[in-house]
Amino acid sequence: MADFSTIIKTADFKTEKHAPVIECENSFKADAFSVITVSVGKEIRHPNTTEHFISWIDLYFKPEGNGAVIHLGHSEFTAHAESAQGANQGMALSDPLMTVKAQLKVSGTLLAMSYCNIHGLWQSEKNITVG
Ligand SMILES: [Fe+2]
Repeated sequence: MADFSTIIKTADFKTEKHAPVIECENSFKADAFSVITVSVGKEIRHPNTTEHFISWIDLYFKPEGNGAVIHLGHSEFTAHAESAQGANQGMALSDPLMTVKAQLKVSGTLLAMSYCNIHGLWQSEKNITVG
C-alpha cells in the first residue's frame, strides 16, 4: 500500500530545485495579516518547458497542539510555452511563485507542497511563532 508519506519528497532548496521555498517573517502578530511567498527554484532554477514544469503549489497551516490542517492557498501555473507552432515556441511562460496574505492567530507550521509533472510531489515547512 502506498500513502503520501512514501511519495512526497523533501530536500534543501539550496541543493534541490524542486523543494518549495517558504518566505515570510518568523514571527507573526495575531491581530494582523502577514504576507507569505512560496516559490520553486529560488536557488537552482527549475526547467520551465512544455515538457517539464511545476504545475501547482499548495500552502497549508498546521496550528501547534491541534490536529487541524488549514488550506491557505493554491496556485496553478498553466503557461509553459505551448504553441500551435510546436513545443516551447509559445509566447508566455508562468513561473512557480505564489503569494498569500494570511492572519494566523496561533503559532504553528506552514507546509508547502509543489508538483512537478515529471518529478512528483515535494514539500517543505517553516515554523511560525505568533505573539
Ligand atoms: Fe522537475
